[in-house]
Amino acid sequence: MSSTSMSGERRSVVITGASRGLGLASAANLYRRGWRVVAAMRSVDTGMKVLRKATGAGDDDPRLVGVSLDLTDPGSVTAAARTIENAVGAPYGLVHNAGISAAGMVEETPTELWERMFATTIFGPVLLTKELLPSMRRAGAGRIVLVSSQGGVRGMPATAAYSAVKGALERWGESMAGEIAPFGIGVTVVVTGTYDTEIITDAGTTDCRDLQGVYARHHQTMDKRGRAAMKMAARSPDKFATGLAKALDSRKPFVKTAIGPDARMLVIVNRILPSAGLHQMTRLMMGIPRFGAMRSGDTQSG
Ligand SMILES: NC(=O)c1ccc[n+]([C@@H]2O[C@H](COP(=O)([O-])OP(=O)(O)OC[C@H]3O[C@@H](n4cnc5c(N)ncnc54)[C@H](OP(=O)(O)O)[C@@H]3O)[C@@H](O)[C@H]2O)c1
Repeated sequence: MSSTSMSGERRSVVITGASRGLGLASAANLYRRGWRVVAAMRSVDTGMKVLRKATGAGDDDPRLVGVSLDLTDPGSVTAAARTIENAVGAPYGLVHNAGISAAGMVEETPTELWERMFATTIFGPVLLTKELLPSMRRAGAGRIVLVSSQGGVRGMPATAAYSAVKGALERWGESMAGEIAPFGIGVTVVVTGTYDTEIITDAGTTDCRDLQGVYARHHQTMDKRGRAAMKMAARSPDKFATGLAKALDSRKPFVKTAIGPDARMLVIVNRILPSAGLHQMTRLMMGIPRFGAMRSGDTQSG
């Protein structure tokens, strides 16, 4: 039932960032469940080799199509939309999964990084959605899934740019859900927990931190505790893929759901605790000095 429409046709789903991590695991999982999968990625040749190996699909399998997409390039986004429609018509599912991460305080993070973050997570995905919505509206059925994060529930220190775009993603989704629901298209915001992919590693993150700078004291404890917490919480991407498959099955106009126990916990705590309480909780968990403790004169680090 999950991979077929009410009229019994195979449903198609577009997944951005399908070259690796959660996108790759989800594309493979949905293919196995019988979906027609459009895997959108920057490097189609290498990415599709990996995806075909993971699924056992042949080069000419019409249920697994690779599409070139760089979300920071508007020309690439509009071309991808046309290629998608040529391949599968109006997609049923559109999963905005691609993303980048960066570590660093606001003062340490260059404007270029903020721009790249917004281009990848907001401007590109919004353009792709605008390009595909006319055909999806005409089809009268579909679901747009926005892959958010715990940073989208609450801004976390040292990830302001990432938290800001995930917050913006959630507000965009809520707004759009109110607009497109009458056409039979639902929106799901997925608050994603911690999964074992490159994005949580040093290699997969743009590091803007100045470990010897003004925020050296913050970095000391945050680095150690952050790594330990992520190592403990990280789960297999396959578990995320199972949650995503369920999310695509929803028939509700708007859903916000958490995938992963740590994400579920944060969503609950965020509902119960006032914002000031969450601020204190985050500060204590990350070992950040109390309010005013680093005023000039009280500290040697500036
Ligand atoms: N893993 C976690 O713990 C976690 C937690 C919360 C939220 N998330 C969210 O889950 C999503 C997937 O992350 P992941 O863990 O799978 O990370 P990942 O392994 O680093 O994969 C990121 C994916 O995004 C793609 N991408 C980056 N910039 C792009 C661009 N300009 N155009 C097109 N594709 C681009 C990458 O493609 P290339 O291969 O070409 O670089 C890659 O496929 C992200 O939105 C992330 O914020 C992950």
